[in-house]
Amino acid sequence: MDLMRYAARAPFAQRHLLTLQDWSEDEILQSLSLALQLKAGLKAGRRPKPLAGKTLAMIFAKSSTRTRVSFEVGARQLGADALFLSTADIQLGRGEPISDTARVLSRMVDGIMIRTFAQADLEQLALHGSIPVINGLTDEFHPCQILADLLTIYEHKGTLKGLKVAFIGDGNNMAHSMLIGCSKLGIDVSVASPAGYAPKARYVGWAQENARAHGSLVCVTEDPAEAVGGADVVCTDVWASMGQEAEAQARRTAFAGYQVDEALLAHAKADAIFLHCLPAHRGEEVAAGVIDGPQSVVFDEAENRLHAQKAVLALLMG
Ligand code: CP
Ligand code: NVA
Repeated sequence: MDLMRYAARAPFAQRHLLTLQDWSEDEILQSLSLALQLKAGLKAGRRPKPLAGKTLAMIFAKSSTRTRVSFEVGARQLGADALFLSTADIQLGRGEPISDTARVLSRMVDGIMIRTFAQADLEQLALHGSIPVINGLTDEFHPCQILADLLTIYEHKGTLKGLKVAFIGDGNNMAHSMLIGCSKLGIDVSVASPAGYAPKARYVGWAQENARAHGSLVCVTEDPAEAVGGADVVCTDVWASMGQEAEAQARRTAFAGYQVDEALLAHAKADAIFLHCLPAHRGEEVAAGVIDGPQSVVFDEAENRLHAQKAVLALLMG
């Protein structure tokens, strides 16, 4: 399928991105197609401004480099203003209810991107506000990252359906979103995690249900070599996510044997690509020789946050 030419056929069922599970396959493909078009246009010097005069509020309860910069730069390129609101500064961080924050922001801005801890807080924002809400990462999901990852996979492989993606490491927000995003598009997805760190059964169930509709596969295992076997794409993420700093040492012990190094990557196809959402810890979840090696496309992936996030903004706030 030529994604560049994938036509926008239907309005989005809901004007939020809380988890990719809420988006249909068609909506995901529309956003990837628009991202490709916006990227090609930007490289050719075209900067359409479909969001001229609009404002995006960006609430951050956790640190960020890529998410903040991609949304802020992306919003500006589309003609919108972007407000950086750290919870260290706004009243939300001092206990103002999320429901009141949603109602206040809905009177002043046109969309909210939020990076926070609980998925329930995001849902409250969407429930009580009257403007689009975008998940910029929660403890459960990181859908914006997966859209950039799917874009990167498509650019390097020329297709999506029928590929195999392997995720090695913690069954965290990235693992959950990778399971959902891949299974929605008919991509086989395998996750290998140590005992006690598997992705949540509820989200694995969603992925299995999505995969059934495509005849694609979902595999959750403790064996990294099994997960990586024959993969077109190998990815990993930090062993201790934001909010889990106190567990970092215990996790280093638990995840020994789950590093994506040259030996593990050798189980994948010879032309497999390596993805990491970044920030990365060389020598922990990934060997320097892999992330800085010839199969790594992590900086294409990072750049694609900009194009993927612009597509999300244009589709939800336009
Ligand atoms: N990958 C990602 O979300 O990076 P940041 O934490 O820097 O936003
Ligand atoms: N799993 C990581 C992703 C960072 C982009 C975290 O939540 O910290």
